[in-house]
Amino acid sequence: MLWRKLVALLSVFVYQSDLTHAALVERRIDDTQGDSATGLRPVYLPAEGVWNGLDCSQCQLKPDIARVFGGTYSEATYRPARGIVSVDIQFEGVAIDVYFILAPFSARLTTLTECLFILDGGEPATFRYQPGAEDTEFIYEHSVFSRTDLPDANHTLRITVPEVPHELFLNFDYAIYMYAGLF
Ligand SMILES: *[C@@H]1O[C@H](CO)[C@@H](O)[C@H](O)[C@H]1NC(C)=O
Repeated sequence: MLWRKLVALLSVFVYQSDLTHAALVERRIDDTQGDSATGLRPVYLPAEGVWNGLDCSQCQLKPDIARVFGGTYSEATYRPARGIVSVDIQFEGVAIDVYFILAPFSARLTTLTECLFILDGGEPATFRYQPGAEDTEFIYEHSVFSRTDLPDANHTLRITVPEVPHELFLNFDYAIYMYAGLF
């Protein structure tokens, strides 16, 4: 009788663990195409006139399109007199990684990247990259913000700039997040 009970117990256990088997799935948020699973797109502010893509004819910083995720990027130059710039990303998951393109040194153009990452309205995290004269190449797929062990929930990540009195450059390529799926 005991083995029957054991088998019964075991099959209940197997059945339940099958039902609750969770796996982490990697999902991508492209700057232009949006979320690979939900289609949700990043929200850029201001909505017009500041954020540019590779079709921008007057932009002078030209990354190599072959090395850009999904063939697109979104770049902006912050000018203090024109107000802050930002991009909001929404995702349901437990981890997030954001990737920027960093510009090379230029004597004429603003290539200092500095921004704030505010997750769910919490304390801002800062990223800063000031290219020196020896930095003559773009840097692609550079991780600028990374968090793991987040509660499994809907999150909002705001990428914005500190209100400094000088110009800043941002180039957002894509983000990856981990979705906790049930299978
Ligand atoms: C996230 O939001 C969606 C849509 O409102 C909802 O269906 C889902 O249950 C939420 N996920 C979590 C983990 O709260």
